[in-house]
Parts: sequence; structure tokens; C-alpha cells
Amino acid sequence: MKRTSKTGFASKWQVIIIVAGGLLSMMTSVQTLADSGDDQARRGEYLARAGNCMGCHTTRGGQPYAGGRKLDTPFGQFVTPNITSDNETGIGRWNEEDFWQALHHGKSRDGRYLYPAFPYTEYTKVTRQDADAIFAYLRSLPAVAQSNPSHTIRSPYDNQSLLYLWRTWYFKEGVYQPDKSKSDEWNRGNYLVQGLGHCNACHTSRNVWGASQDDKLTGGEIMGTYWYAPSLVSPAEAGVGEWSIDDIVELLSTGINSHAVTSGPMATIVRQSLQHLSEQDIRSIAVYLQSLGEKPNSDKAPKKVRKMPERVRQYLVLGEEVYEKHCQDCHGKSGQGVPKMYPPLAGNRSVTMSSPLNTIRSVLYGGYPPATTGNPRPYGMPPFQHLIQDSEIASVVSYIRNAWGNLGSLVSSEDVDKSRGN
Ligand code: HEC
Ligand code: HEC
Ligand code: HEC
Repeated sequence: MKRTSKTGFASKWQVIIIVAGGLLSMMTSVQTLADSGDDQARRGEYLARAGNCMGCHTTRGGQPYAGGRKLDTPFGQFVTPNITSDNETGIGRWNEEDFWQALHHGKSRDGRYLYPAFPYTEYTKVTRQDADAIFAYLRSLPAVAQSNPSHTIRSPYDNQSLLYLWRTWYFKEGVYQPDKSKSDEWNRGNYLVQGLGHCNACHTSRNVWGASQDDKLTGGEIMGTYWYAPSLVSPAEAGVGEWSIDDIVELLSTGINSHAVTSGPMATIVRQSLQHLSEQDIRSIAVYLQSLGEKPNSDKAPKKVRKMPERVRQYLVLGEEVYEKHCQDCHGKSGQGVPKMYPPLAGNRSVTMSSPLNTIRSVLYGGYPPATTGNPRPYGMPPFQHLIQDSEIASVVSYIRNAWGNLGSLVSSEDVDKSRGN
């Protein structure tokens, strides 16, 4: 039966208008919600950069955050999981609370204890608000279906009760507590360094259980990589107590300054993470790092120039020849380098510090400082491993560690070979 009365007609339009009006107002309120959500997600994107989540959770040539990157450690090989919003293979079914459990407590959604190859041992310092923002950002990314290969961890390290013990011994859970006696800037720097920046994940020594010895950034060899992350406190390594804030800012945001250059894993951190931070945040980090750096005792008598034993001098003659032939064109006759192009080797703490590992690796494998907005086309160094013998590498490294007033221990061919790490 058709009802085409006048009133019926009118009411139909009324309904349409009301529905349309309702939809419109729903859309605007969704719009406002989306706006605030967008802000949160945008903040989360920035924070995820500060934590370099993408660096670990993306494999070479793979989809961002879809995981699959392999991390070698003495305990076995970890594969980073997919943290896109895919329901089946990612964290699509997670809520904020689940995410907080992972980042803050190191527990997966199903209650499994996570391995500290995921640096939740540092991320635990991150505030709930920042964690929620990172989660909002991850949720805003396209879902990528990519299943997670399992880790291949050696027994007994694959044992959850062992991990439970490890946590009770070594994991200190807790959000960063500001130090009221210090400036806001210092506290911000400390928060970023100890939390999202997870600088301690590398810049600390580890015991046989892979637990960091302290959170004081006193340097250590990075597990599974054959790189030494120098002390950020000691003036003999990479402590920056004597540097100006501007010099520290320049190194962290461009990867190079007139004293130093970042290489290897640190170049990656600058490229993927630090260069994207705001000037203000980098300054805060610089203020905090500067405060950590011990000042060399200026009352001490000036360093005596070591009288070189003749045998050592003879040994270094070969090193000098190698240097003149292969290195001098870039690093200069007196190891002075070329500002912002080739790092100086004279007076360079990366060269003289007690661990020769990074210097040997630079010579074996060459490398590039990071490409950054502040230094878009960095000059590189060629690898020498196929060009000169281990004994020549040992002599040239010994030479640069002792020439031009530098003072460092001598390096042997075995040291060179060991630095290959395989
Ligand atoms: C140094 C590499 C590394 C970095 C940096 C890193 N992760 Fe991970 N992440 C891992 C590894 C490895 C695992 C797997 C741990 C496990 O399975 O026990 C993991 C696990 C996770 C999990 C748990 C997933 C699940 O299915 O249980 C989440 C969530 C996560 N990471 C988020 C993040 C976020 C957010 C950041 C940045 C703030 C981040 N990760 C940075 C290596 C990393
Ligand atoms: C993935 C490991 C890793 C992480 C994370 C890391 N570093 Fe490094 N860092 C290294 C290594 C390795 C070196 C030595 C190579 C070099 O000199 O660039 C280094 C060197 C440095 C240097 C000295 C550079 C020079 O040549 O004088 C500074 C300063 C530094 N890191 C600061 C930081 C800060 C601040 C953070 C946290 C925001 C951080 N690092 C996080 C591995 C890391
Ligand atoms: C073509 C120019 C070039 C030549 C030749 C060259 N280097 Fe380099 N060298 C560089 C550049 C550029 C870097 C910075 C690389 C990086 O950040 O990874 C560097 C870095 C280094 C470093 C690390 C310094 C630091 O602060 O971390 C050492 C040590 C070094 N070179 C020694 C040598 C020695 C020894 C030779 C000869 C066997 C040599 N270089 C030949 C350009 C060169």
C-alpha cells in the first residue's frame, strides 16, 4: 500500500534533513576528534624518531615498522616483530594498556616476558603520555601483513623463567623522575638520553648476562657488533665536559664537527634519529651531556711527551710509510684533517682511546659519516682490508695512535684480525 500523503512527503524530507544534519554534526565531531588524535599521533611520530623505533623495526628495503630486522647477540639472533596496525601479524588488536605493558614493563600482550634486545630497560623511563602518543602514531600507520619469523636463541637463554630471574636482578622499572635541583632543560636532556634515546643501550659495559653494568654512560663494547661505544663521561674518550654546547649540538645533529665525526652505529643513530629532533631537544641533550663530562684536572702538570723506545720507533716507521702512501691525502701530513670533510687524527680521542677497536674497523671497512640535512653529502673513507695486509693495518693504526703527540697503546695483527669479529 502506497502512502503518498502530503504529511508523509513532508516528514520524509524532515527525516532526510534530520539524518543529514545528524551526519554532518557527527562528521564535525569526528573531525574534531580526529584533529586532536592527529596532534597526538604527530607528537608520537616525533617521539618514535627520538626512540629510533623504526631503525630496529624495519628490515633493509622492507616496509617501515613491519619488523624482520635481525639482531645478532651472544645469546642468539633476535628478529624484530611487526609493530604496524595489522590485526594478525602486527599490534592491530592491542590497546594503549597493552602497549604500555610492553614499553614500560617489557611484557607482550599475551603476558610473555620480552627480551631486553628490545631496549625497554631504557624505555621504561618514558612517561605514560608519551607512550600513548607513540601508540597513537603506530595505529595511524598503514597495516602491513608480514608475519614474524621466530628468534633463534641458544639454550638456556630461550627460557622464560631465566628471563624472569634476569628481570628481577637487572631490570629497574620506572618513569623518569625529574631532579628538582636542576634546570628544566637539563631534565629534558636527561629524560631523552636515559629514556627514548636509549643511549645506555650501547654506551655501557655489559656483564655475561647481557645486563648493563650501570646507567652512567661509562662506555662499553656493543654486544654482537664489534664496535666500542665510548664513555660519554671520561675526557679520554667521548666525554664532552670541555666542549661548547654549540659543538655538541653540531655533532649530534649533523654527525660531524671540527673535533670529531660519528661512525658506524653512531652514524646510524644520528641519521635515523638525532638529526630529526628539534634544536631545543638537541640543546637539552647537549646540556645534560656536558654536565656529565668530567673536566680534566687543569692543575695537573702538562702532559709529558713520551720518549719513544727505539724498537717502537722502528715499528712505527712502517706505519708512517703506510700513512704517507694511503692516508695522508685526506687526513693531512700532520693528521690535521680537513674541517667537516676529513676528521683530524691528531688529538682525536676516537683514535687514542684505550680501545683501538673502532679505529681498526674504520681502516678495515672504511665508512661514511651520516648524511644529514646539516651535512647532506658527507665525504667517505675507502675500506683497506683488501688493499693492505693486517700487519700494515696494525702498523698504521699504531702509528696514528702515537704520532703528532697522540698517545695510545700499540696494536698487533691479531688485534686487527679479532676486530673483524668472525
Ligand atoms: C635495538 C632494537 C630495538 C629498538 C630501538 C626498538 N625495538 Fe621494539 N623490539 C625489539 C625486539 C628485538 C623485540 C622483540 C622482543 C621479544 O620478542 O622478546 C621488540 C619488541 C617490541 C614490541 C613487542 C611486540 C610484541 O609482539 O610483543 C613492541 C610493542 C615494540 N618493540 C615497540 C617498540 C617501540 C615503540 C620502539 C621505539 C620507542 C621500539 N620498539 C624500539 C627491538 C627494538
Ligand atoms: C646503537 C648503539 C648506540 C646508541 C643507541 C648510541 N650510541 Fe653514541 N656511539 C656509539 C658508537 C659505536 C660510538 C663510537 C663511534 C663514533 O665515534 O661515532 C658512539 C659515539 C658517540 C659519541 C662520540 C662521537 C665522537 O666521535 O666523538 C657521542 C657524543 C655519542 N655517541 C652520544 C650518544 C648519545 C647522546 C646517544 C643517545 C641519544 C647515543 N650516543 C646513542 C653507539 C651508540
Ligand atoms: C678518501 C679520503 C680518506 C682516506 C684515503 C683515508 N681516510 Fe680515514 N677517514 C676519511 C673520512 C671521510 C672519515 C670519516 C668516516 C666515518 O665517519 O665513518 C675517516 C675516518 C677515519 C678514522 C675514524 C676517525 C674518527 O674520528 O672516528 C680513522 C681512524 C681513519 N679515518 C684513519 C685512516 C687511515 C689510517 C687511513 C689510511 C690507511 C685513512 N684513514 C685513509 C677519509 C679518508
